[in-house]
Amino acid sequence: MDYLKIIGRKNLNGTVKISGAKNAALPLLTATILAKNEVNISNLPNVVDIRTLLKLLGMLGASYDHNDTDISIDTSSLDKTTATYDIVKTMRASILVLGPLLTRFGHCEVSLPGGCAIGQRPVDLHLKALEIMGANIEIKNGYIIATAKDGLKGATIVFDKVTVTGTENIVMAAALAHGTSTLINCAKEPEVVQLCEVLRDAGVSIDGIGTNTLIIEGTKGELLEFKPFEIIPDRIEAGTYLCIGAITNSILKIEAVIPEHLEAVLAKFEQMGYMILKEKNAITICPANKISPVNIVTTEYPGFPTDMQAQFMALATMADGISIIDEKLFENRFMHVSELVRMGADIKLNGTVATIKGTPKQLLGTDVMATDLRASSALVIAGLVAKNETTIHRIYHLDRGYDRLEEKLTLIGANIKRGKE
Ligand code: EPZ
Repeated sequence: MDYLKIIGRKNLNGTVKISGAKNAALPLLTATILAKNEVNISNLPNVVDIRTLLKLLGMLGASYDHNDTDISIDTSSLDKTTATYDIVKTMRASILVLGPLLTRFGHCEVSLPGGCAIGQRPVDLHLKALEIMGANIEIKNGYIIATAKDGLKGATIVFDKVTVTGTENIVMAAALAHGTSTLINCAKEPEVVQLCEVLRDAGVSIDGIGTNTLIIEGTKGELLEFKPFEIIPDRIEAGTYLCIGAITNSILKIEAVIPEHLEAVLAKFEQMGYMILKEKNAITICPANKISPVNIVTTEYPGFPTDMQAQFMALATMADGISIIDEKLFENRFMHVSELVRMGADIKLNGTVATIKGTPKQLLGTDVMATDLRASSALVIAGLVAKNETTIHRIYHLDRGYDRLEEKLTLIGANIKRGKE
């Protein structure tokens, strides 16, 4: 397994180019199961999760030509509809093949994705919605066995909870369904919006894009003609690098980003005393005279994203005062706390609430362990200001969602090296 060794305390400066959004690319790649033509996609992030999903689509029979960030993928020869445990267990987002496979073929078997470090993460809302659309769902030996021999029917579906991949799965299922579907209490994340826009451009009638109510006119099994498209920038990668600029008190510019996707995050930087300069496709963060503490409650888009919680916790350890972070979406998304405490942070947990007492004294570098994707980025952020050397173990978690992290950090002056255990 790889580790990252970081020598902290260096001011950074320069520009970071943000990659395509992993969480937009994943549903858009499974949406190609609905295509009759070869689909050309650009600005794919070069991360492990994308390669894992392409391996799954290949196992199902898709063929593709993939270079660093561009892909041409053809699913017309796709002839298998079983997503096996060995691949689903490595990436929960594999559940995103469920809706497309079922609506195109009328049957599929998808391994139940296990939980993960941040929580139990059930998929009951995905399954309940498909049953309302006429699917027969059976759980057997850890697999979801879904059948809809006459295809799925358009239906009215109210999501009990806002679910990002749940919304995405059902949007894709509704795209080929027989009749109109009205989806209520949908997720509105930019990644959901891009999926809807690409499907609309491929010929599906979708009203309400960007709102929490979507009305989708299914094509009655007719496959779609996709136009070429470019993956939107990764707003979470962008927010992570802004945290890096903030904690090292650097002037840092990030480009190839959509500032509107980060409004809730930018507001928190400004509340902490940082200056944010916004351009059409770039953001620059400038040092704070004094880092003020911050209060954060994670919620669905456009509120403060849970995927930025760990990163802001690392930043809050440098604030002059007490910050409160309330993680409302996942029941166990504080795995980074114990590692930050080992670096000298003063953080107390009480249920879903973390209290961070900012310590003007420095964090001290030591050996720490990554536990999940965003927790590992919080350890990188802390390591960049910690005294001495920080070694982050098990960084395969980081490689799932951050494209060439050490290359991008080295370019702006960080002292960071990858090694093998
Ligand atoms: C997506 O996960 C993202 N993953 C996550 O990003 C992100 O943290 C999460 O949305 C919240 O924004 C991808 O898009 C691939 P949810 P998802 O369904 O869809 C409960 C990262 O760092 N729920 O919106 O799995 C669930 O337990 C990852 O890139 C049910 O109860 O999240 C949670 O409490 C981590 N039943 C809440 O809803 C269901 O059927 C939100 O989960 C589905 C969800």
